[in-house]
Amino acid sequence: MSRQPLRLAIIEAVSVLEEAGVPSPRVDAELLAAHLLGIERTRLGLVPLVDPAMVDAYRAMVAQRAKRIPLQYITGTSPMGEIDLAVGPGVFVPRPETELVLGWALAFLEGYGRHNPVVLDLCTGSGALALAIAHARPDAVVHAVELEPKALAWARSNAQTRAREGDTPIVLHQGDVTDRTLLTALEGTVDVVVANPPYIPEGAVLEPEVADHDPHSALFGGPDGLSVIRPMVSNIARWLRIGGAAAVEHDDTNGAQVAELFAQRRVFGDVTEHPDLAGRPRFVVARRVPTDIEAHRARSVRSTTAE
Ligand SMILES: C[S@@+](CC[C@H](N)C(=O)[O-])C[C@H]1O[C@@H](n2cnc3c(N)ncnc32)[C@H](O)[C@@H]1O
Repeated sequence: MSRQPLRLAIIEAVSVLEEAGVPSPRVDAELLAAHLLGIERTRLGLVPLVDPAMVDAYRAMVAQRAKRIPLQYITGTSPMGEIDLAVGPGVFVPRPETELVLGWALAFLEGYGRHNPVVLDLCTGSGALALAIAHARPDAVVHAVELEPKALAWARSNAQTRAREGDTPIVLHQGDVTDRTLLTALEGTVDVVVANPPYIPEGAVLEPEVADHDPHSALFGGPDGLSVIRPMVSNIARWLRIGGAAAVEHDDTNGAQVAELFAQRRVFGDVTEHPDLAGRPRFVVARRVPTDIEAHRARSVRSTTAE
């Protein structure tokens, strides 16, 4: 059979995806074609004709997407910062809004100035934040915690891939970020905590890609969306060293509540709410400040050493 115009295959795919109710049919049709051809989406215009076998493979992928299987499960990858993570059934697909937490963490580390900072990624899923930070900051000592064995297996495999590519290896821990005895060895040593925990209030109506494919335990944070965040904030207070900071992503209905969870504790200061690109409340940042006793102790040590 003769080669066929790629443009026509994409037009057909857009209409199939539109019919299936996929939210961004053109973008997805183009991303699937680009993935199959192994090129950037912006270069599709340079490919006028494709083999019939490619058209068949493309139709098969589009049919999967029309069943509302997440695009990233079909392509097998999802980006975070400068790296690509392997994803598939059993692990949460990293989202573009989490790039904002990554951007904040890298900017904070830049201004913080400490060499070999200790970073802790809570609820790491595929390892997205931990591995993107390890890639951007080879001097960092990055720890990551995940509860679910299936997600942890994806994180482990991504960590091995990144280490093979030359990134500094990260330290993965299986554990519950709400457990008050978790990682006691790191108490008072962590410079930056990042977390994209499960935070959707139970009962929220979600697109089929999310509801039917992202693991339930990756999405929902109890009736108010705070069941993981609330105890996690207490643990963050244990782990951060004075001067360090944490960023916690949350549901857009919970900005003030998450800020309040930090502000209630004397060990946190400079609590700030950050919006996402659509202007919705998306993550809260808080700094570990010294308590009165800690400040007094530091002053006493300074005056003793000056004598
Ligand atoms: C929203 S996903 C985020 C994954 C990753 N940080 C990202 O941005 O792509 C939340 C992750 O937290 C994990 N998780 C849920 N409850 C947890 C808990 N109590 N302790 C540790 N991890 C937990 C889930 O299995 C899931 O992988």
